[in-house]
Amino acid sequence: MPSLPGLVAPRSPAGRARRLEAQRRRVRRGSDREPAEAPLPEPRYPRRAMHRIDLRSDTVTHPTSAMRRAMAEAEVGDDVFGDDPTVNALEERAAALLGKEAGLFVASGTMGNLVAQLAHLGRGQETIASAESHLVMDEAAGHAVVVGTSIRALPDRPDGTLNLDLVAESFRDPEDPHEPISGLVAIENTHAHSMGQPLSVAYTQAAADVAHAHGVPLHVDGARFFNAVVALRVDPAALAGPADSVTFCLSKGLACPIGSVVVGSRAYVWRARRARKLLGGGMRQVGVLAAPGLLALSDGPDGMISRLAEDHANARRLAEGLADLAGIESPGGAAQPTPGRLDPDRARTNFVIFRVARDRAAFLDALEARGVLMVAYPHGTIRAVTHLGITADDVDATLAAARAALAETAGSTVGAAAPASA
Ligand SMILES: Cc1ncc(COP(=O)(O)O)c(C=O)c1O
Repeated sequence: MPSLPGLVAPRSPAGRARRLEAQRRRVRRGSDREPAEAPLPEPRYPRRAMHRIDLRSDTVTHPTSAMRRAMAEAEVGDDVFGDDPTVNALEERAAALLGKEAGLFVASGTMGNLVAQLAHLGRGQETIASAESHLVMDEAAGHAVVVGTSIRALPDRPDGTLNLDLVAESFRDPEDPHEPISGLVAIENTHAHSMGQPLSVAYTQAAADVAHAHGVPLHVDGARFFNAVVALRVDPAALAGPADSVTFCLSKGLACPIGSVVVGSRAYVWRARRARKLLGGGMRQVGVLAAPGLLALSDGPDGMISRLAEDHANARRLAEGLADLAGIESPGGAAQPTPGRLDPDRARTNFVIFRVARDRAAFLDALEARGVLMVAYPHGTIRAVTHLGITADDVDATLAAARAALAETAGSTVGAAAPASA
């Protein structure tokens, strides 16, 4: 593979095996507290120069000029005292948009899900959620480590939903002292592993009905909630309506540098506020970080919600182009259960997930050498995510790079690489 200045050398499978073995040794020893004989693992995501076409995630967006100006000019106060007018305005705007009584600004989607769980659950309770949801797979077991709860993990279906009959069967018997106590149902909208499928109002209502019939609340991990709103052309308050709590991220498709918001009833958000404090997330003059969020949720030219339709159109364009390339295949599983050709109809929001009939790491390296970044995703797949920084021309350039990368790696053997998330 040609080496270009500024690009990081590809990481070999042997190197990965060494790093994994070193990590296993540290875990066997009990912790990182003991002196390590083996070197620490390399960072999962090596530092790179900004590439022209970065499709790894919608988290790579940079704040717009208007956002930077709003940050510089934000009115601030001590938010732990409730004095920051910009944070207060953001929380009120988020709550009003989603038709809830109150909102809470938090540092990240993971913190949003954590405070949401802490505010709903007590130690020893259990959440019913999908096995491949972010909450289960990608939050460092925060539900167990911090919240003190277990997960009843159910299969992810290709439309992004949980089988609600299975949900109903999964509630524990509260009279049986052996069992944990079911305390929450959580769904993810959009649902990442099914290629970002948006979950409908009707489904959200049906999930809430099952949860409520068993006396527990429904939480929506809406990291990309507004992608669902735009894809389904629904009112955000209608989509959030059946849920008791929703978290959504400002720092993904909405292009803000940081932040998520948790919304729910006033009493619930009060508990979430206490939980945020417990986690060390009580911030002070944080209006400088809330200001881009307020702008992103605004109507008009600086708002970031309605423009998500462009990201969806670009994802669709990318999926259509990739589907025509020999060597690009269905990702399988929840992302696309039908084998064979990649089905562009699966790209309904800003995710494209596919498989290559090649060595995946070699293909990703060959793409990167052409200035295009995508990530390895679970089950041997690859993920590309469109966002504010990606134009239709970038999509066309990506397709040209993919064609060339497929040709360059045509003889490579199919191997596995570490999956990434975000
Ligand atoms: C569905 C989902 N939920 C939660 C998160 C967590 O967000 P953050 O990375 O801001 O912690 C992510 C991040 O990608 C996500 O995809």
